Amino acid sequence: MSNISINNAIPENALERQLYFIEKCKEHVAQLKKELNRPLLCCTQTFGCQMNARDSEKLLGILEEIGYTPTDSEEADIVVYNTCTVRENANLRVYGRLGQLSKIKEKNPHMVIALCGCMMQEPDVVEKIRKSYKFVDVIFGTFNIFKIAELLYTHWQQAGQIIDIWDSTKDVVEELPTQRKFPFKSGVNIMYGCNNFCSYCIVPYVRGREKSREPKEIVREIERLVDDGVKEVMLLGQNVNSYGNTFEEPFSFAQLLREIEKIDGLERIRFMTPHPKDFSDDLIEVMRTSKKVCNHIHLPLQSGSSRILKLMNRKYTKEHYLELVDKIRDRLPDVSITTDIIVGFPGETEEDFEDTLDVVRKVKYDSAYTFIYSKRTGTPAAKMENQVPEDVVKDRFNRLLATINEVSHTISARYEGQSAKALVECINDHDSSLVTGRLTNNMLVHFPGDESLIGNIVDVKLTECKGFYYMGEML
Ligand code: 5AD
Ligand code: SF4
Repeated sequence: MSNISINNAIPENALERQLYFIEKCKEHVAQLKKELNRPLLCCTQTFGCQMNARDSEKLLGILEEIGYTPTDSEEADIVVYNTCTVRENANLRVYGRLGQLSKIKEKNPHMVIALCGCMMQEPDVVEKIRKSYKFVDVIFGTFNIFKIAELLYTHWQQAGQIIDIWDSTKDVVEELPTQRKFPFKSGVNIMYGCNNFCSYCIVPYVRGREKSREPKEIVREIERLVDDGVKEVMLLGQNVNSYGNTFEEPFSFAQLLREIEKIDGLERIRFMTPHPKDFSDDLIEVMRTSKKVCNHIHLPLQSGSSRILKLMNRKYTKEHYLELVDKIRDRLPDVSITTDIIVGFPGETEEDFEDTLDVVRKVKYDSAYTFIYSKRTGTPAAKMENQVPEDVVKDRFNRLLATINEVSHTISARYEGQSAKALVECINDHDSSLVTGRLTNNMLVHFPGDESLIGNIVDVKLTECKGFYYMGEML
């Protein structure tokens, strides 16, 4: 990055430094609003996972603090794309949309375009944007999201493209303003990065090594969120059940859940994502006895073939996975299990794929996210031979979807006729006489209601299962 002019007034402490730049940006934005005699609009677009969604809330919090008004439209004065690079189509979408953004910018000389997130941690991507997308003003990565005000201010001071990419966590500044998408629920980062190096996955390269946040800090953040009206938290990490592995004093994810359970006023706890290799008996026990931990486990399978799992570096076999699921179902009979599955990993044979179908039939997932393998440069799998031909992958993908639909419908419908608690999240997208609530097992239920219910946990009768969601009536 180009150096900002050394100014003695800039504090050294990382948090104070950002607060200083937030003030500087506030002055700049206020001045610009006066000159233009209109509000300045900001738009953040999130690609990818819940981790990115949480980062975007932090970005939006800072942008609002410095004086921007949020909008969903990209015809704004600053547009930030928080990018994902887990599969290639996520990258392609960003390039496609950047073309459209440049046209909007031609009409608005004050517009700032910023790119951040996982895709920016790839040197080839940054090089391409530097050379071919010169209208992008600010580029930063996953480790310095909190610096957006400083980078914006630097851009305004110096003009030209500002690029600031870190290759690991240095300072983590957590106490800056955030703007939650939902007042009643929030993601909470409990750890950053990943040490697993699954052979297909780019995440460890773009999000760095695993680092857990201190339990006290996490509890304090959740207490503050609860004071602010939050009822449900989603604990976020790439592999939440290796939480605490980097501490000198052992402190497990199960212990962390026990501490969070004690927070008065908090009603629901979710977590994402556990790795099957680290799913402890203690964690199952905490879930069994907890009144707050939700009745849902997202347990990525990736493949049902032990041979492919070994090539994927997943560190469990088909048999281990099935044993774990049996143990979970034995102790948590009512739990919903969902998963992620990749089709077409290099060298996957018909027999390997049949193993995946076999696990799907045996586990009876409530639902599954299915992905076509995407080659990510820099990962070990990208160098593997026997990449599976596209038509074979497509055929397997369709057969997998059909199998999932077949088994999931019966299992999802098991609550039909029962009553359950739902946290009302919003007015239904298609029918404004309905509201949409989330059950503890993470399924959605749509039922007659109005805006006043949003944010409340209510009792609902689940009248009809429509596949992956329910229709219901409030009791
Ligand atoms: N190709 C396809 N799917 C992938 N995932 C991660 N990397 C890849 C890849 N290279 C999927 C995994 C993971 C989910 C978040 O994304 O299933 O669990
Ligand atoms: Fe990627 Fe595996 Fe880490 Fe998940 S656990 S982020 S799939 S390397």
